[in-house]
Amino acid sequence: MYQQAADIEAYSILHSSAPSSLLQKIERETYLRTLQPNMISGCVQGQFLAWFISAMDAKKVLEIGTFTGYTTVSIAEKLQSAASITTIEINPESHWLANQFFEEFSEPQKINSILGNAMDHIESMDETWDFILIDAAKKDNDYYYEKLLPKLRSGGIIAVDNVLWKGKILENLDDKRTQLIDRFNKKVASDDRVESLMIPLRDGLTLLRKR
Ligand SMILES: C[S@@+](CC[C@H](N)C(=O)[O-])C[C@H]1O[C@@H](n2cnc3c(N)ncnc32)[C@H](O)[C@@H]1O
Repeated sequence: MYQQAADIEAYSILHSSAPSSLLQKIERETYLRTLQPNMISGCVQGQFLAWFISAMDAKKVLEIGTFTGYTTVSIAEKLQSAASITTIEINPESHWLANQFFEEFSEPQKINSILGNAMDHIESMDETWDFILIDAAKKDNDYYYEKLLPKLRSGGIIAVDNVLWKGKILENLDDKRTQLIDRFNKKVASDDRVESLMIPLRDGLTLLRKR
């Protein structure tokens, strides 16, 4: 089943506009230079988020989990010139590599790249966000959700990645991490503070719109 999903994603990429040369470079170098290249979000999800955020006319975007910056650049490419994305990465090597790519981006002022544990940074951030992408350690999804929902504007959106956990969510509930993801999915689906939509895009993406 997952091979078919991979084939369908490959077909979708072939039948979409090509990503920019910088995004192609980030993807290529992520596979050459990192140990877990499969953490990259990739073309379909990156462009989906970028189009969505652009349609919302979001001015302030926050990403938890930069990795090599693929989603960051995808989004930044589509932001208005006065808008910006802040991205936080705990791993110094990933942060360093992402920053190399950000330096090549034509409008680097749109990207605020922070090295550190997002848990140490988000509480002191005195900002109201239009869009937040939670894409760090999946066990921490609920922590970020509770801390960041008050900092999201009404009508703003939180996106949470990997909510289907490679299909394990349907199969292996003995695994602690899968259980935590499943618990989070159930919680937000019935949370009156948000409208929730889980999309079976790639590894599963939930969109949570603050009421
Ligand atoms: C799935 S990857 C992110 C993928 C990325 N958004 C992209 O577009 O390719 C998850 C990243 O979150 C980072 N991370 C994990 N825990 C974190 C934390 N507490 N604070 C900041 N970053 C964290 C990991 O080091 C990893 O690089």
